[in-house]
Amino acid sequence: MAVFRAHSAGVRVFENRDLEASDRIARHLGRGGVAILDGPWEKIIRLRRTLAAKGASREALRNLMLRADAATPQPVPGLPALLRDGLVALDDVLFALRSAENTHPVEALGGSLITVHPDVLVPRSQPLIWLIRRALERVRPDLPPAPAVLDMGCGSGVCALLAAQVMPDAAVLAADHLPEALASTAVNAARFAAEGRIRAGAVATAEPGDLYETLGDRRFDLIIFNAPWVVAPARNRMETALNDGGQRTIRRFLAGAPARLNPGGRVIVGYSDHSGPRAIANLERFIAEAGLRILGRLSDRIKTHRKKRAWEAIYAYDLAGRE
Ligand SMILES: C[S@@+](CC[C@H](N)C(=O)[O-])C[C@H]1O[C@@H](n2cnc3c(N)ncnc32)[C@H](O)[C@@H]1O
Repeated sequence: MAVFRAHSAGVRVFENRDLEASDRIARHLGRGGVAILDGPWEKIIRLRRTLAAKGASREALRNLMLRADAATPQPVPGLPALLRDGLVALDDVLFALRSAENTHPVEALGGSLITVHPDVLVPRSQPLIWLIRRALERVRPDLPPAPAVLDMGCGSGVCALLAAQVMPDAAVLAADHLPEALASTAVNAARFAAEGRIRAGAVATAEPGDLYETLGDRRFDLIIFNAPWVVAPARNRMETALNDGGQRTIRRFLAGAPARLNPGGRVIVGYSDHSGPRAIANLERFIAEAGLRILGRLSDRIKTHRKKRAWEAIYAYDLAGRE
């Protein structure tokens, strides 16, 4: 998401013919200025491409802004979530348009389409999402009214949206270390709220950060983590959605969870035996080491891509702190 700051070089509007003066705009951006672009979409896109080719930094390009009512080639999904003072960063608009081409139906969300940034994990496994929904329905009667819920590793926001549907009075905070994931979640939450599928404001997004890093001292009645469960090193940021080298992320998540729970709080962990029974034994050892108890383990089976096995088991653990 763009953070709109007026720098010392100030805010200037560039209209129609000015949009061809890429050198002047580059100088303005180079001084830390914010440029509001007002003109035909094609010219705006050409200008951005020219500036990028001339070596404008990512940060400078983020200071290219559009008015919220500017014409785009198609409606921008989730635009209200992107607005800052009636202005929206051009890069956020491009992001939302790219995400909109990447839509996926989710049966457990009533068949609604969710939009997913190309760098964010697509929630393809419907059985797993159903499993998380069943786990949410299982814990709901034990939670206080208007529970505070954390969706750790929100990705597209599918678990946060499920929580907001299953518990319509919940205040859900979605967290992830990838800004692209938080932006996808914000766009989907804004659209679901606009369509009346969740309560407006039910899902908020945290600042990007490693696990609990950006959450201050907040505590929750329920924490959900559909964790990366392939025990292999992640070679890049995107692979952290699936790969967890040495199971270090899930172990750190579990170790930190009890301090984040309100009394009587619960944790739902989505996991799989994709990496074999040893990974499950390790997971259950980490749960015990963290001082958490297993209250239940829902399971199902999904087709696996592994050569030796046709199926793998998927689990939703229902965990509680020690009484
Ligand atoms: C298996 S995906 C789940 C995505 C989404 N919740 C879903 O169910 O489709 C795991 C998510 O955890 C995030 N993640 C991995 N390591 C993380 C970390 N150290 N801190 C925060 N998020 C992390 C990934 O970016 C990814 O979005």
